[in-house]
Amino acid sequence: MLVLGIETSCDETSAALVADGNTVLSNVIATQLDLLNKFGGVVPENAARRHAELIGYVIKEAIDSAGKTLGDVEAIAVTARQGLIGSLLVGVAAAKTLSYVLQVPLIGVHHIEGHIFANLLSNPQIPMPHICRTVSGGHTMLLHTRDYCQYELIASTLDDAAGEAFDKIAKFLEVGFPGGPVIDKLSTGGNRKAFNFPRPLLKASTLDFSFSGLKTSVINHFKEKVRNNEALPLEDIAASFQEAVVDVLVAKTLRAAAEREIHVVSVTGGVSANRRLREAFQDTCKRRGVAVFFPELAMCTDNAAMIAAAGYARLQRGETDDLSLDVFPNAPLEV
Ligand code: KG4
Ligand code: ZN
Repeated sequence: MLVLGIETSCDETSAALVADGNTVLSNVIATQLDLLNKFGGVVPENAARRHAELIGYVIKEAIDSAGKTLGDVEAIAVTARQGLIGSLLVGVAAAKTLSYVLQVPLIGVHHIEGHIFANLLSNPQIPMPHICRTVSGGHTMLLHTRDYCQYELIASTLDDAAGEAFDKIAKFLEVGFPGGPVIDKLSTGGNRKAFNFPRPLLKASTLDFSFSGLKTSVINHFKEKVRNNEALPLEDIAASFQEAVVDVLVAKTLRAAAEREIHVVSVTGGVSANRRLREAFQDTCKRRGVAVFFPELAMCTDNAAMIAAAGYARLQRGETDDLSLDVFPNAPLEV
């Protein structure tokens, strides 16, 4: 079955063609980096307007570059849950129109389920059940994935998402946007032990996590150095901050795996592209006899192929939507 995926939940306008939920024929992504740099982040109304300008071209490019025609599309999957409301509406309106005109099934997808399927697209052999860690700009969760499309939420962040913390620190340090890739790169030249930033809730019994205290601590350190006219080792600050985030994410994920006696971990979402996070997960998992899987780099951040794959799985379960499909910015992940 050839599924057209559409993703417009935040600042990436994306469309993809995926065959049978596992073969990516095209995955076109238009970023809004010019807007992000101009405004220092995502401005919801600007993002929605840009989606409206681009969506038609992006869909056309996804179909053309796959060597297909609109008539070949057999179903439409679209992100309808979790994201910016105006941005979600643009994708869903396009998807409904195409589903009606082509008379093919429509399925609304939860954005996080898309990220989970991004890893399955890259690594179809990930066994079930497994522990899944999602780390993005808008969410950071720990899930027990019992089977395809069956999740139990184990823990989530009490405040900032991991990617959000990267973005806010990068903005504060004035090193660019989005912050994750910039901090990742800066950190390679830094000493990750230079500053002992707090690891919030690391020792607490809860598997939930919190990043706002860490963010405040980094900002306070920075301001103190400025006040004392001391040198500002940006690379060391970046590497030490990143290490604190990584320590918490790895430790809590592996604690959840141990508690549930599960020896497989999947890490997905924008922050899963982080080099140090991948290295730390790989080292720790190897020592503990746990298998760990990451999406290929192009599948870590938002894209429509992952939405097509998740939509295909839902369609296989007999689920569909109709023209009443609505958008929900804060919907929980369906179980
Ligand atoms: O999954 P995603 O594209 O969008 C959301 O669903 O939020 O994730 C975007 C987030 C941003 O916060 C970005 O800074 C972060 O992922 N990110 C990274 C890296 N690449 C992207 N964070 C750390 N290291 C990276 N290499
Ligand atoms: Zn995302």
